[in-house]
Amino acid sequence: MSDHEHHSHPSKKDLAFIHAKKQARQKITMLTGYDYPTACLEDQAGIDIILVGDSVGTNVLGYTSEREVTMEDMVHHLKAVRRGVTQAYLLVDLPYQSYETPQQAFVNARTLLDHGADAVKLEGGIEQVETIRRLTSQGISVCGHIGFTPQTLHHPGRKARVQGRSSSQAIAILESAIAVEQAGAQLLVLELIPEPLGKAITECLRIPTIGIGAGRFCDGQVLIIHDLLGLTPFHLRFVKRYQQYRELTLQAIVEYKHDVEDGNFPSGDTAFEMDDDERLKVEQWMQQSQQRASQL
Ligand code: KIV
Repeated sequence: MSDHEHHSHPSKKDLAFIHAKKQARQKITMLTGYDYPTACLEDQAGIDIILVGDSVGTNVLGYTSEREVTMEDMVHHLKAVRRGVTQAYLLVDLPYQSYETPQQAFVNARTLLDHGADAVKLEGGIEQVETIRRLTSQGISVCGHIGFTPQTLHHPGRKARVQGRSSSQAIAILESAIAVEQAGAQLLVLELIPEPLGKAITECLRIPTIGIGAGRFCDGQVLIIHDLLGLTPFHLRFVKRYQQYRELTLQAIVEYKHDVEDGNFPSGDTAFEMDDDERLKVEQWMQQSQQRASQL
């Protein structure tokens, strides 16, 4: 392969690449992705990990909770994202109640892998150790997810709450993190926990931690792409909005509506021409058909 080809098609990122970033103290970047065009852009931007999260339910599908998301939903969105990814590591959520037993987790994780996932993510700490062990012993890479876990703790209409503010809760979360790593997980998402706890877990573990609302000291960060783009109707303290696409999109749609209603779109210069003699033949055909109709 020539140098040029090598640079235009950098190789696919794997766990070794992501773990090496932790070793080198380089931050790992992760974003959720739910569709093909967004996945293409995230991949092109060099995002390390694209997560087809079960947040697809509330962000894309109009569900009121992550609990409504099914395996069918996940596979549908995974297939779209997969088509857009050439370099990023592709992580996919096991949805609510799809990993009630180690065997069920194995079957569903295999389905996600068969559709192109590089690894699966599941929520929970010590209570998931047996399941994580089962998956990893079968060669399936697993990302844990502790702290605030939407599948079990999120209630529609209620705000997500920071977990582990007391020392006893914090130590329980730290113990969960260690148990998840010892069970074989290769990555760990830390959601909505105090910064000192995020730092402590990151220092205790060999595997990379990816934070969301978990402070500055995790090995990497994840955001929901809709939050980053400013598509979400509410603003969360731990989110940085890099664009205001909710307002911009509404503005564009309203402008289009007015343009069509006022006859300003399409304009003449967007219309396709027809040769005069061809147009005349159509006009003649119309005249003849009108005459035939009036003779009936
Ligand atoms: O589903 C999701 O988007 C997630 C992230 C918040 C980590 O689990």
